[in-house]
Amino acid sequence: MEMFKPVYIDGTDIVLLDQRLLPQEERWLRINTVRGVFDAIHDMAVRGAPAIGITAAAGMALATMESTEHGNLMTALRQAGEFLKSARPTAVNLEWAVNRMLDKAASECEGKGREECIALMFDEARRIHEEDIAMNLRIGRLGGELLPEGAIMTHCNAGSLATGGYGTALGVIRGARDAGKQVRVVSCETRPYLQGARLTTWELLRDGFDVTMITDNMAGYMMSRGMIQAVVVGADRIAANGDTANKIGTYTHAVLAKRHDIPFFVAAPWSTVDLKTPSGANIVIEERSPDEVLFCGGRRIAPKGVKVFNPAFDVTPASLITAIITDRGVFKPGPGGVDWTQG
Ligand code: MRU
Repeated sequence: MEMFKPVYIDGTDIVLLDQRLLPQEERWLRINTVRGVFDAIHDMAVRGAPAIGITAAAGMALATMESTEHGNLMTALRQAGEFLKSARPTAVNLEWAVNRMLDKAASECEGKGREECIALMFDEARRIHEEDIAMNLRIGRLGGELLPEGAIMTHCNAGSLATGGYGTALGVIRGARDAGKQVRVVSCETRPYLQGARLTTWELLRDGFDVTMITDNMAGYMMSRGMIQAVVVGADRIAANGDTANKIGTYTHAVLAKRHDIPFFVAAPWSTVDLKTPSGANIVIEERSPDEVLFCGGRRIAPKGVKVFNPAFDVTPASLITAIITDRGVFKPGPGGVDWTQG
């Protein structure tokens, strides 16, 4: 089966599957403006740290097309970069991809014609996409060796849909299957945005996996009954000490996993490791609209006037993580954090 990719570059268009409509409808969007890229990231038509990064990289290529005065290209690109970065603050891959595109322009557009520079920028965005897939395949191989057989729980969607293809956490589960292990998946629904219910189940069923969906608050019960053999999740930003920001609810699962002696794995490409951020305390956590909590399936579920708090991510301390699986190796956090030279 051909690898599913939720985003790709077609000429100078960015084509992406509108994840807001899944699983009911598969509609592909064609985007050809920087504003359109910002909206797609901000409104979560595309989501998941690596997929956001790839989309933003292509957005920087569009910014090159939109800059009218080639002489002021770098100023225009820096502005576009700041704009795109502001779409969502927590996933470091967005900032990483924008900065890589800025470096590309600064080092290679100088002295080149406009058309040549635009082509270079689209090529770089495509390269970022291809590299992401290659990293995921490697993460899948490394993680697949670590994963036990049995029921593997995951939270949110860190699959093909969240990356250039193959996935990180779901890539590890795919890697385990490819290694001949008998695995079945327990997908937490992931309130309030329901990435687990809507996206992970959609993606894994399509791929022939045995998937059971649970509400987030059923995880402890299942763990206490021996019904979960491991947990694997993705990451939006991994601080230098190994503390990991991921979808809200991840921390709760990590605490429960520790209590029940269940291995808890984080899977992410190296572009998610942010050595400039010392610890989880320094990670900015995005807060999203109260409506995501107040409404479920388009229906209001709480009275008007109630206050809502809607942090989109939480931070799991490194001490609760059994191993961080990256394309550069597997890192086991110790008492002092993570030694990134020992993968
Ligand atoms: O708000 P989202 O859906 O973009 O959050 C996604 C997650 O938290 C994922 O687990 C993370 O980005 C890793 S994706 C490989």
